[in-house]
Amino acid sequence: MATLPPRVLRPASPSDLEALERLEEVCFQERRFRRDHLSWILHHPSAFTILDEDRVLRGAVMALTEAESVRILSVAVAPPFRRRGVGRALMEAAEAFARNRGARALRLEVGVSNTAAIALYRSLGFRASGLYGLGTKQVFAGAGAFKHRQAARSRSMASCGFSGVLFLYLFRQIGL
Ligand SMILES: CC(C)(COP(=O)(O)OP(=O)(O)OC[C@H]1O[C@@H](n2cnc3c(N)ncnc32)[C@H](O)[C@@H]1OP(=O)(O)O)[C@@H](O)C(=O)NCCC(=O)NCCS
Repeated sequence: MATLPPRVLRPASPSDLEALERLEEVCFQERRFRRDHLSWILHHPSAFTILDEDRVLRGAVMALTEAESVRILSVAVAPPFRRRGVGRALMEAAEAFARNRGARALRLEVGVSNTAAIALYRSLGFRASGLYGLGTKQVFAGAGAFKHRQAARSRSMASCGFSGVLFLYLFRQIGL
C-alpha cells in the first residue's frame, strides 16, 4: 500500500462545511449528519471538529464537550485512506483535546454491526457500558460482557417486536 503523505491535523472552521458534507456522504449509508447538523456542530461553542487533511479531506472527528466528559459525535475516514492510521490519529487528537479541556472520560455510541469502528474503539481502550435499540426506551446497563449478552438481548428485543438497529454505548476513562 502506498505511503500516506504526512498527516496534517487541524481544527475545522465553518468554511469546511461542504467538505465535511461530502465526507459524510461517502462514509455513511444512513443516519448521516445533514448539512444543518454539521453547521450546528461547526458553530457550537461546546463542539469541536478535527480534520486530517492533505490537499483533500481524509477524515474528521466531531465531538461535544459535556459536563465531565466529551462525547464523540462522529469519526469518519474517506474510503481510499482507511486502514492507514487516520481514524486512530483523529481519535487520539480528540482525546488530547478532551484532556486539555479537563474531561475525565470519552463516550460514544456505535451500531453493533459496525465492526470496523468497534475494532478501532476497542484498540483505543474503549469499553462497553450499555446497549440500546433505536426506537425503544429500553437501555441496558453494564454491557461489559456485551459479546455474550448481545445474542440474548437481541432475542429478547425481537420477542418484544423490536426490529430496529442496536447501538452500543462505549466509554473510555481519561482522567483520575
Ligand atoms: C471506522 C473508521 C473511522 C476507521 O478508520 P481507519 O482510518 O480505517 O482506522 P485506522 O486505520 O486508524 O485503524 C486503527 C485500528 O482500528 C481497527 N480497524 C479499523 N478498521 C478496521 C476494519 N475494517 N476491520 C477490522 N479492524 C479495523 C484495527 O485494529 C486498526 O489497527 P490495524 O490497522 O493496525 O489493524 C472507518 O472505517 C470509517 O470511516 N468507517 C465509516 C464511518 C463510521 O462507521 N464511523 C464510525 C461511526 S460510530
